[in-house]
Amino acid sequence: MSEIVVSGIRPTGKLHLGNYFGAVQNFLKLQEAHEAYFFIADYHSLTTHPTPADLNASVYRVFAEYLALGLNPEKCTLYLQSDLPQTAELYLFLNMNAYKGELERVTSFKEKARSQPDNINAGLLTYPVLMAADILIHKGTRVPVGKDQEQHLEMARTFANRFNRLYQTEIFGEPQAFSFGDKLVKVPGLTGGGKMSKSAGEADNIYLDDDAVVLQKKIMRAVSDSGPSEPGAPKSQAVQNLFDLMELVCAPDVIAQFDKDHKAGTIRYGDLKKQLAADMETFVAPLREKIREMLANKDAVKKAAAIGAEKARESAEKTMKEVRQAIGFRSF
Ligand code: TRP
Repeated sequence: MSEIVVSGIRPTGKLHLGNYFGAVQNFLKLQEAHEAYFFIADYHSLTTHPTPADLNASVYRVFAEYLALGLNPEKCTLYLQSDLPQTAELYLFLNMNAYKGELERVTSFKEKARSQPDNINAGLLTYPVLMAADILIHKGTRVPVGKDQEQHLEMARTFANRFNRLYQTEIFGEPQAFSFGDKLVKVPGLTGGGKMSKSAGEADNIYLDDDAVVLQKKIMRAVSDSGPSEPGAPKSQAVQNLFDLMELVCAPDVIAQFDKDHKAGTIRYGDLKKQLAADMETFVAPLREKIREMLANKDAVKKAAAIGAEKARESAEKTMKEVRQAIGFRSF
């Protein structure tokens, strides 16, 4: 049986290096081997009430960036969630079968309720239902997502099974989380903490369209330490982070040499950063160029969105015909 891949992308602004080695690279592989649907989750983003201008700009940006980085409208279905109102229709149906108690127990809801007590809206509560609709609308079986989404996927399975049972159908399968390959690529940030994340601030992130000068500055200012306390001393986390970043873009013999220097206690972090900055620029430059070209090419972006919307609607309508009939809506 062939797999149907579905994944949603939150329109949170510019893509960084962590997004590239996390989501983008995997999506590029998946579009080669499977029927794959990728969409910008703009309905979901309404839980935080963005202004129309902000919503529009961030959706355009992330859509253009994924296109620029190689998601190909010929190979996958790349679309905007709001171009597929069938999703909202399925969400309505699934909501009739989603219970307040179970939704209130979802970890992401409890966290959001705590962090934004003035905006605990129903959309937030039913976020997992909308996510289930996103997946089930294409009868998705494989959902490439991070670990933090596993509970949402479990709920998608619950809602799918419940619908099948209630209406005595087998319309929906059980979507499974899809984790990639054997080795997870580590992409730490520049400020000495854990993985690169937008919330850690500008200085932590390497954006794929950072100017050469900005990139250089950020890396030269990255957190390190005051040097190995003695030869053979283990690396501090901040320094390990720099080595992890080198793994992504530097040649193995270059890394081996710095590693040797660290062990010997003779390492100069300034030299390491200079090397990292140069190799990072080599890696980022072509991506930056493609992103900037695509951002400026409104016609190409518009055309791709139209192709995606049409392909997505075709798949969704097929499912929704079955769904409406199973529920008992007019079939005469
Ligand atoms: N909730 C996902 C996230 O925060 C985004 C998302 C929305 C999604 N709908 C989806 C992911 C459907 C996979 C499938 O990253």
